[in-house]
Amino acid sequence: MPQAPNLSPRPIRFLLNGEKREVTGETPTTTLLDYLRGPERLTGTKEGCAEGDCGACTVLVSEPDGSGGISRRSANACIQFLPAMNGRAIETIEHLGRDGLTPLQTAMVENHASQCGFCTPGFVMQLHAGWLTGALTDRQSVKDAISGNLCRCTGYGPIVEAGLEIAGEPVPDTAAEDAALSAGLAEMEGEGVFAYEARGHRWYAPTNVDDLADTYAANPDAVLVAGATDVGLWVTKQYRELPVMIDVSHVRDLKVIEEAAGRVYFGAAITHREARDVLAGIHPDLGEMLRRFAGAQIRNAGTIGGNIANGSPIGDLPPCFIALGSRLFLRKGDDLRIVPLEDFFIDYGRQDRGKGEFVAAVEVPRLADNQRFFAHKISKRFDSDISAVMAAFCLTFDGDVVSEARLAFGGMAGIPKRAKAAEAALIGRPFDGVAARDAMAAMAEDFSPLTDMRASSDYRLKTAQNLLKRFQLELSGAASARIAVVGPDALDLAAIGGAA
Ligand SMILES: Cc1cc2nc3c(=O)[nH]c(=O)nc-3n(C[C@H](O)[C@H](O)[C@H](O)COP(=O)(O)OP(=O)(O)OC[C@H]3O[C@@H](n4cnc5c(N)ncnc54)[C@H](O)[C@@H]3O)c2cc1C
Ligand code: FES
Ligand code: FES
Repeated sequence: MPQAPNLSPRPIRFLLNGEKREVTGETPTTTLLDYLRGPERLTGTKEGCAEGDCGACTVLVSEPDGSGGISRRSANACIQFLPAMNGRAIETIEHLGRDGLTPLQTAMVENHASQCGFCTPGFVMQLHAGWLTGALTDRQSVKDAISGNLCRCTGYGPIVEAGLEIAGEPVPDTAAEDAALSAGLAEMEGEGVFAYEARGHRWYAPTNVDDLADTYAANPDAVLVAGATDVGLWVTKQYRELPVMIDVSHVRDLKVIEEAAGRVYFGAAITHREARDVLAGIHPDLGEMLRRFAGAQIRNAGTIGGNIANGSPIGDLPPCFIALGSRLFLRKGDDLRIVPLEDFFIDYGRQDRGKGEFVAAVEVPRLADNQRFFAHKISKRFDSDISAVMAAFCLTFDGDVVSEARLAFGGMAGIPKRAKAAEAALIGRPFDGVAARDAMAAMAEDFSPLTDMRASSDYRLKTAQNLLKRFQLELSGAASARIAVVGPDALDLAAIGGAA
């Protein structure tokens, strides 16, 4: 029997613009943005979309990094729940300019980078966070930093120039203050499971995996929440009631990346930002995919576990991990279950996860010398957009011949799925143009994709086929044949097959 941890409710304790707050009485699903603009009257933080897409609500969130320092990140206040801030520090635009304009704000003024008061605070907070975390190094990094911020009038040029101006400015050394801040925040977070209750709703935030297992076993109908980049929208867009929630984002055991015997283990609460460099080390295509995954604020909060557990057919990581042959670690009470990731996705909206069971980690094998990998995301907008098709391929070679093929796709079916017929067409053959053409044809047996607002069925199938062709051309060294797959008629399939 699981032992129920101590779940006595406490107030939410955090720092806001350097001052202590203890909050009671706010429903746990109150967003940070509503709290800031409501009781705190900090209206410099704006609401544009309320779904993490425009960046107008960007604030800076700091928390202990686990080794005595402080980790800082930008966040979309519109989809962060207030109790998730327990033991964290929040800084808003009002606090940034408390001693006069910062160099960034001055650069924004001098570059004429602001026309409205609506998007500007979000851009400033986002660039400020990028500067503090050392993410601004060159023009591209400035563009990447603001890919989750929308401006509809000035244009991005002057904003990028302002960002570039501060990119070279030295970041203040805060190591001494950080140690004190880290200790103060840890004290605010408190020991054991943080429990909060208001208006008949409950929120739990365990800090270790055993307490998470026990808390979930005791509340199997609770909704788990990690970065809230999906769950936040259930509240702000679908107005769902979530009476009991368990926050896994404070669980230290789920925030580790470990490696053993050529396999990398990502704890479920590892964010996309934290995973990016390690994944890029497995293959550069994974780094590039994560660069284009949402905007920085979402990558700072969204987790690997959430991207898998939400079961979305258009999540970007699952096809990549399936192609690599990943396994999922699921825990319920004291029991650990390990399943091939592809088996976790049963049907649209159905995953192989029991009541009270949670995703603990995903194991991602590194590539062997005789394996070749490819991943590519197709979306309507290059940055910060959900995939129309996400393709990830891993081929194992015995000499010139394909001995194993794993071709995985998102956006092609109700779940992330392998193209088994196309894979079969490649086995036992060199991966040349003829084999690629046969596999592309076989893909029509694997998938009957949907037509929706992102893409038509025809477009999806043709794009999936063409991505395999692109992989074949890349592997054959025909680098000049890099194909920009930009539309359904961009590529003549027969011509490519015939030309091979
Ligand atoms: C503006 C925007 C852009 C986005 N762009 C992309 C994109 O480009 N590509 C993409 O793939 N996704 C995208 N997303 C979706 C989302 O960011 C990702 O799916 C993210 O990885 C979800 O992680 P999270 O931690 O925020 O999950 P949450 O919202 O906290 O949770 C998501 C689901 O997973 C469950 N859950 C969370 N952790 C666990 C766990 N450990 N065990 C079991 N269940 C768990 C929750 O109960 C919920 O059902 C975008 C979202 C937004 C708002
Ligand atoms: S209001 Fe648009 S991202 Fe928050
Ligand atoms: S300056 Fe605000 S939308 Fe462009």
